[in-house]
Amino acid sequence: MSYSQNIMDFYYPVARLQDLEAATKEGKPLAAVLLGKPLVIYKIQGEVVVADDRCPHRGETLSAGAVNEAGLQCPYHGLQFAHLGACTRIPAHPQVQNLKRFDLCSYPAVESHGLLWTSLGAGAFYELGFGRESESQRLVVAPPVNVNASAGRQVEGFMDISHLPFVHRTTFSDCTAEAMPPYKVESFDGGFGFEYSSSLGNYPFDHPSPKDFAWRRAYRIHAPFVAILDIYFPDGLFTIFNCACPVSEEQCVWFYPIRFDESLRLGSDTDVNAFSQKVQMDDLAVVERQRPRYIDLTSDSEQSFGADMASTAYRKILRNLGLVKA
Ligand code: FES
Ligand SMILES: [Fe+2]
Repeated sequence: MSYSQNIMDFYYPVARLQDLEAATKEGKPLAAVLLGKPLVIYKIQGEVVVADDRCPHRGETLSAGAVNEAGLQCPYHGLQFAHLGACTRIPAHPQVQNLKRFDLCSYPAVESHGLLWTSLGAGAFYELGFGRESESQRLVVAPPVNVNASAGRQVEGFMDISHLPFVHRTTFSDCTAEAMPPYKVESFDGGFGFEYSSSLGNYPFDHPSPKDFAWRRAYRIHAPFVAILDIYFPDGLFTIFNCACPVSEEQCVWFYPIRFDESLRLGSDTDVNAFSQKVQMDDLAVVERQRPRYIDLTSDSEQSFGADMASTAYRKILRNLGLVKA
């Protein structure tokens, strides 16, 4: 499997920062796979290192190793890796000085929205804001979800407006509005936005939606795999920063940071994550049943209707990036 350079140049989320902190405390690295490449992630003196998950000595998987103050240690013969994946010690030959040929290939590490982002290419990192961010908001990042479907399928499902009353029937408070209003897609550099209003509520199922309230939802899609959704609740703003790490053409890891006004009184982080996970499990069931497990951008075997305007625009952007399967 090979990916075009412009796909490699994007930054993708590979870990939740709180999971990296917890692993480091336990003396462990994290593992991730990005575009088919296995990665190890570890911290040394506050610096995050993202590197190839393969020891240059005999090919051991480094994410099975241990993390200490000196960095990451390979479990097989104890080679030690420090800042930027530099090999600093061969225990069998402590006197050997020039260890450069044992250095790991490392990648950039950027922290944003509670996630760690990296790139296998040479592109720049563009900070994608949540939109309105203020002191009176809280960030809650749900645990990552492994998805047996492509990043394109996951992100396309997130921007799909006509699935809400069907897939989330038992999760949202009011899923009776089935006909979708028309909406317009507006392009910007690297993506597009759209918004619509409807009576389709977004409170948890046991919380009644106010009568006649128009729920406004505004989406910003950043190619290839970020989709940000602002939901204007009656008592504040709730923003989902949906993003996916493309593991392979048929697998992704789904990240789901949420930022919301405290005026929404959504309870503890645990309460917020419990609701997020319920919504995510609704979507996961569908996205893992879709066939094929990726969007086939060379075929017109999937027909579209008016409410699919966003997904049609999304497919066009992915195609323009040179993707064949997304
Ligand atoms: S395989 Fe890693 S130290 Fe030998
Ligand atoms: Fe959904």
